Amino acid sequence: MKHLLIIYHSQTGKTAQMAEAVRAGAEHEDIEGVEVRLGRALESGVEDLLWADALLLGTPENFGYMSGGLKDFLDRTFYPCEGKLEGMAFAMFIGAGNDGTGAISSIRRIANGYTFREVQEPVIARGELTGGHLEACRTLGMSMAAGLELGMF
Ligand SMILES: Cc1cc2nc3c(=O)[nH]c(=O)nc-3n(C[C@H](O)[C@H](O)[C@H](O)COP(=O)(O)O)c2cc1C
Repeated sequence: MKHLLIIYHSQTGKTAQMAEAVRAGAEHEDIEGVEVRLGRALESGVEDLLWADALLLGTPENFGYMSGGLKDFLDRTFYPCEGKLEGMAFAMFIGAGNDGTGAISSIRRIANGYTFREVQEPVIARGELTGGHLEACRTLGMSMAAGLELGMF
C-alpha cells in the first residue's frame, strides 16, 4: 500500500470542503493500492508526514500568504523530517477570495526547503465555492492517488 496524506487548514469551511472533495477523488473505487489520510494542519504532525509517500496541502490565502495553520504544520515538521522526505511528490489546493497566488508561492518556497517535488498544477477556488471547483479538487485527488499507485512518483 502507498500512503497519500492530505493536510489542510480552513477557518470558515471552504478549504475544508475542498479537502473532502480531494479525499473523495483519492478514494476512487478503481484505485486499490493507496491508503488516504486526511488531517487538519493544527492536529497533524511529524508522524503523519513520515507516513506519507505523497502529499496534498490545502490552505486559504491569508494576507497574501498560506494560512498560519498550515505554516505552523510546516514549521513544526521541518527539522524532524529534514532529509527523510527528499523528492516527495506534492500538490496544492487553495481557497482564496480573489487571488491565491501568494499562498502558492509561499508554499513553493518552503517545499523547496523540504525538497518536495510539485507534480500537479494547484487548484485555486476564488470567490464562492462552485461545483466546478469541487470537481477540480476530486480530479486532483484522483490523479495524485492514481499516479502514486502506478509508481509515477
Ligand atoms: C485574515 C484574512 C486574510 C485574507 N487574505 C486574503 C488574500 O490575501 N487573498 C485572497 O485572495 N483572499 C484572502 N482572504 C479570503 C480567504 O482566502 C477566503 O475567504 C478563503 O476562501 C477562506 O477559506 P476557508 O473558508 O477555508 O477559511 C483572506 C481572509 C482572511 C480571513
